[in-house]
Amino acid sequence: MPKTRSHYVCNQCGAESSQYFGKCPACGSWNTLEEQVLTPATPMTARASVAAASRSRSKFQLQLPPQPKASLTFNQVVDHPQTRFPSGYSELDRVLGGGIVPGSLVLIGGDPGIGKSTLLLQMANSLSLQYRTLYVCAEESVQQVKLRAQRLGVGANTPTPHSPPPTPTPVNLYLLPETDLDVILAELESLKPHVTVIDSIQALYFSALSSAPGSVAQVRECTSVLMQMAKRQNITLFIVGHVTKEGAIAGPKVLEHLVDTVLYFEGDRFASHRLLRSVKNRFGATHEIGVFEMADQGLQEVLNPSELFLGNPEEYSPGSATIVACEGTRPIVVELQALVSPTSYSSPRRSTTGIEYNRLLQILAVLEKRVGIPLSKLDAYVASSGGLNVGEPAADLGVAVAIVASFRDRVVDPHTVLIGEVGLGGQVRPVSQMELRLKEAAKLGFKQAIIPKGQSVPDLGMEITEVSRVVDAIAIALAGRRQQETEESGSGEV
Ligand code: TYD
Ligand code: MG
Repeated sequence: MPKTRSHYVCNQCGAESSQYFGKCPACGSWNTLEEQVLTPATPMTARASVAAASRSRSKFQLQLPPQPKASLTFNQVVDHPQTRFPSGYSELDRVLGGGIVPGSLVLIGGDPGIGKSTLLLQMANSLSLQYRTLYVCAEESVQQVKLRAQRLGVGANTPTPHSPPPTPTPVNLYLLPETDLDVILAELESLKPHVTVIDSIQALYFSALSSAPGSVAQVRECTSVLMQMAKRQNITLFIVGHVTKEGAIAGPKVLEHLVDTVLYFEGDRFASHRLLRSVKNRFGATHEIGVFEMADQGLQEVLNPSELFLGNPEEYSPGSATIVACEGTRPIVVELQALVSPTSYSSPRRSTTGIEYNRLLQILAVLEKRVGIPLSKLDAYVASSGGLNVGEPAADLGVAVAIVASFRDRVVDPHTVLIGEVGLGGQVRPVSQMELRLKEAAKLGFKQAIIPKGQSVPDLGMEITEVSRVVDAIAIALAGRRQQETEESGSGEV
């Protein structure tokens, strides 16, 4: 009988060792090493089926033009055109770098209940009109998936594996309620889907490993076996991975290096908007975002996100200011709101939603020291509209003006946008992608932009006011409105 091998894998960081330690030598966590018994593969196991697939593929490869085996120059590398195909959702295509690359492996992470299954089911449905698509529902029963599908308007008469799709219905979407990796691999072999969705990788189980489903060893091995299979058969794989409480997909970074693309689906469960963010992409730029809105009939694309995060100018109150944040190459106009009020505590409260907490503290200190506004006895709250995360420094000027507007009980002109970083000396510093930001503001009908001095911008039909100090920006942003209010009320008081 063949010998079994055992080794130890840390369930925190995935480090492997041949002997047991109470404390993981790699990450320092205590009691996290788990014994893994590797049984030799039998002909029925996944490794064997992958190897068989590899052997059959190698026969096929003999028909290809001979390739030099040693290192190649760029000219010797045969071009392999990667014709991307659309997913049916332009927001998803944008995040993937312009469409789906055939044969790629995409990992989608996110908190439970954020909408990963909904997004992938909608995508699978749209892809199934052209491509054979397999949806492996390892977490939910087919009945649950069907219920959801009916709600989303996805083809109601979804065929089961091995039953051909009924003509003339174009739906080519197959469901596989399975957690055993061997069965899934066998199904991939026989069905030969073009696109496969695995929902989720934590629910899969590879019989060659003794550890429980969801453990680092299982998740890593399942992904790598699926990847080998997918690359050989040129299957495009979408894998759902839950985010652990540490915030990483399936344990700290164990999968991210394996896959081609990592997308995070994020958003506040209580707000309707969802952001799909790319954090790794072998086939495109990272830090792109796609915006969706969760509605009754599933996820809807938001093609113009600025409209979602822009307040109603009629409802502008003292303490509101508008900024243009940039996510990747995507400008988003966002309304910020600040509230300062006398504190009833010995040390005042500071709270932020969507803005970085430490940046708020820094801006409050600059306003106190450089602008002379006594804020040390006041509570300060700053929030972005919809809780959108605008952690970038370009939001500083908007935050500063919103705080002073709330302090002085003044309304900033709702047709003005503020863009700039605030330095500790009270200077307004240049920010990146200024032209892109201003174009977005101009497109939405903003009349004035207050920006850092010296940033050259083309004529966009907006009044551009350049400032070098935050105190000037505050004076201009608040004085303009006071003038306007004065004209409207007909009073001569300034
Ligand atoms: P789901 O896709 O199951 O999340 P995940 O797979 O990331 O865990 O999303 C479930 C949430 O989405 C659930 O809270 C209900 C909500 N939802 C809607 O609001 N509308 C819909 O049409 C659907 C299908 C879900
Ligand atoms: Mg799910």
